[in-house]
Amino acid sequence: MGLYTSEIERRRTFAIISHPDAGKTTLTEKLLLFGGAIHVAGAVKSNKIKKTATSDWMEIEKQRGISVATSVMAFDYADHKINILDTPGHQDFAEDTFRTLTAVDSVIIVIDVAKGVEAQTRKLMEVCRMRKTPVIVFINKMDRDGKDPFDLLDEIEEELRIKVRPLSWPIDMGQRFRGVYNLYEEKLNLYTPSKQYVTENVEFKDINSPELERYIEPAQAEKLREDIELIEGVYSDFDVATYLSGDVAPVFFGSALNNFGVKELLDCFIQIAPSPRPVQAIERVVDPNEDHFTGFVFKIHANMDPNHRSCIAFVKICSGRFERNANYKHVRFNKMMRFSSPTAFMAQKKEVVDEAYAGDIVGLPDTGNFKIGDTLTAGEELHFKGLPSFSPEMFKYIENADPMKSKQLNKGIEQLMDEGVAQLFVSQFNGRKIIGTVGQLQFEVIQYRLLHEYGAQCRWEPIHLYKACWIESDNPAALENFKKRKTQYMATDKEGRDVYLADSNYVLTMAQQDFPDIRFHFTSEF
Ligand code: G4P
Repeated sequence: MGLYTSEIERRRTFAIISHPDAGKTTLTEKLLLFGGAIHVAGAVKSNKIKKTATSDWMEIEKQRGISVATSVMAFDYADHKINILDTPGHQDFAEDTFRTLTAVDSVIIVIDVAKGVEAQTRKLMEVCRMRKTPVIVFINKMDRDGKDPFDLLDEIEEELRIKVRPLSWPIDMGQRFRGVYNLYEEKLNLYTPSKQYVTENVEFKDINSPELERYIEPAQAEKLREDIELIEGVYSDFDVATYLSGDVAPVFFGSALNNFGVKELLDCFIQIAPSPRPVQAIERVVDPNEDHFTGFVFKIHANMDPNHRSCIAFVKICSGRFERNANYKHVRFNKMMRFSSPTAFMAQKKEVVDEAYAGDIVGLPDTGNFKIGDTLTAGEELHFKGLPSFSPEMFKYIENADPMKSKQLNKGIEQLMDEGVAQLFVSQFNGRKIIGTVGQLQFEVIQYRLLHEYGAQCRWEPIHLYKACWIESDNPAALENFKKRKTQYMATDKEGRDVYLADSNYVLTMAQQDFPDIRFHFTSEF
């Protein structure tokens, strides 16, 4: 027990992730409604970015700016403090989402019943798996026709490579959707297709009782009994420990738009989802209940206003209590710093706070002191491990288009990379700088920001690359030999590590075969 254990244990910090359009925004909004954080539907628009013309990145950035306030949505519900971390909907900003996942203790994945597992969900699940983040699955849009629930569960197990355990089960779907049987609470939740209506709950311990036919049609009752029997036969009993270890994902069915199944999800969530978990630093594991404050920067949000080059550094508190105006150590600078206006995010308002606890996120106004992964402590020399970089999908040479401004360009590139906008590789062969991104929009953002914030002009030149692989070997001679043979394709990342830039899948496969002593990694942490 620490000084702040009771505060810390009531916190639940998580992110909702989904493929665009599965219903993340709608679900977030309903959760906020339950928390009393907002009072009308339609108040959360942060994620509507993707709905505007997707090529209009200026508009996207503007909206991202607005969405600072909704980056973290906090509210109290049934004695718990809930922190929902928002993630960008647009896939070109997937890196932002990956980083946000380093700051959460659990995740809710929303899947559209008609579409099943989609590309983005698969990718985000990879990150959850790497970190063993507990996940709950919410299958949404049950008011529409979709896939057979059993098929869908198989699909999730196969595609997301996680075992599932349904905790609620749908009674039909689409037009005939009658509700769900809540296996966790042994309740029958009947569906009322009304957008602002809270569900009707009936205590129902024995679905074999003929009482069931009083609520739903005989055919539906029969089907439900068969389904439940099958579930109990196929899936083992739900064990919270297997959820917490990231091995089994409990599954709920519902309709976020109709506010159906959402309260059940939330009620189960606060019971089973983890409070802040211990965090691994390079030196040691940090327990959230320790009395001393520690935290790390997981996201930096730049202000797009050129006259006002300030950022907000988002800090996840890993242990203890953060206090306004206290002295904390910026470990990378080995310097004590004080923060006079840290902000917290209550629902949709940003406000200055005096204190915050492990599990919470505070926003620190910043003028370039922070980069992603920086650690703050009460004085200890500690380094939290950041999120690994993933191999980018697109690569371009960045060239200086205004020789008078090369200093500005270099500074701009360095700062934007610290902010995590994209990844920089320097060719070991010719010293040219290569920028790697997830999507085309990021190149446009970089070019614009270099010009408007640093007065520097850049030009992109094509380079044909397939993947960046971080390489290592236990055999120094083999490593040297590989680097010599692939000298044209060797680069250095911003931490100075060796990266092999493969120009095609074929070449990469051949390299893996030809150099058995070399280990190829597709993320920077291994
Ligand atoms: P996202 O954040 O995951 O991208 O999805 P979002 O919540 O914006 O939802 C995408 C669309 O799906 C929205 O419709 C939303 O109303 C709808 N939707 C969400 N949950 C349900 C549900 O349970 N049932 C049904 N039938 N639809 C649902 P839209 O027309 O694209 O947007 P809007 O104009 O309604 O905001």
